[in-house]
Amino acid sequence: MTTKKNVLVFRPLPEDQLARLQAVHHVTVADPRKEPEAFAAALRTANGLIGASHTVDAALLDAAPVLEVISSISVGVDNYALAELHKRGIVLCHTPDVLTETVADTVFAILMATQRRVVELSNLVREGRWTKNIGDELFGTDVHGKTLGILGFGRIGQAVARRAALGFGMPVLYHSRRPVDLATQAPELQGRAMHTPLDELLARSDIVLAMLPLTDATRGMIDVAFFACMKPGAAFINGGRGATVNEAALLHALNHGTLRAAGLDVFAKEPLPADSPLRTHPRVTPLPHIGSATHETRHAMAELATTNLLQVLAGEKPTAPYDTAAA
Ligand code: DGY
Repeated sequence: MTTKKNVLVFRPLPEDQLARLQAVHHVTVADPRKEPEAFAAALRTANGLIGASHTVDAALLDAAPVLEVISSISVGVDNYALAELHKRGIVLCHTPDVLTETVADTVFAILMATQRRVVELSNLVREGRWTKNIGDELFGTDVHGKTLGILGFGRIGQAVARRAALGFGMPVLYHSRRPVDLATQAPELQGRAMHTPLDELLARSDIVLAMLPLTDATRGMIDVAFFACMKPGAAFINGGRGATVNEAALLHALNHGTLRAAGLDVFAKEPLPADSPLRTHPRVTPLPHIGSATHETRHAMAELATTNLLQVLAGEKPTAPYDTAAA
């Protein structure tokens, strides 16, 4: 029999997952964006937190003296003060694997949309501007057979590579800290995806895809020099974290360099500020961070996050802990 603990739910949870928590623990639901006072009050006695997309820093942790576990409904953990969590012995859990294929679908969708100008041309029809056959000024650029360069070759990068190599005959180059052992991790990509130095990847790729986590090492790493090394006429896609890109450098590459187009699901500041030039740039396809946003996958993420939380509060090893010691 598990001892009843205090759980603070700080983002909406599906009813069935909320019920799993309520069956075992005292549960308070309080979204800090809407109910900051109720959130602050519940934090004082919370043993477990579950939610996503909220900055958890040292000040917040100071206000949560009995916190044992945070269960994030996300794979990315850049909004958590990892070293602080480690220092305080607070367990962090996240939701890898269950979102891999969905995020890879999103990335491929934005890649296709960017190359074939899908959103721009759909708007032409919707806005009544399709009055004659389109001319070559509106033609797109092929996807099949083009070389795809992927930065960050974790689970999602590999899932995109499978779509590209096996479905679209695209040679794949990838760059990561260490080469991935394809024989054991992704045998279907053997001979189809090559570990490549960054400068060579940028020079050879028709489409460069960033799937990088946000860390001290990756923040702002996609900068002026990066875009200057890209093949003239290439496209840039970001499905990882917005702050890995210096957005002024991206705009400069689009306006004054040789970058043809960009497809962006993530931005340095989200939601994208109304005055951001990326919002309406004619060669940018922006999406509102929808990587994992399907009914099925968001439910699977909530379910895994709930399981993680219940496991830690019951004194068990969680299914998906995040190693804060490595931060
Ligand atoms: C995550 O879980 O970190 C993703 O960004 C969600 O789309």
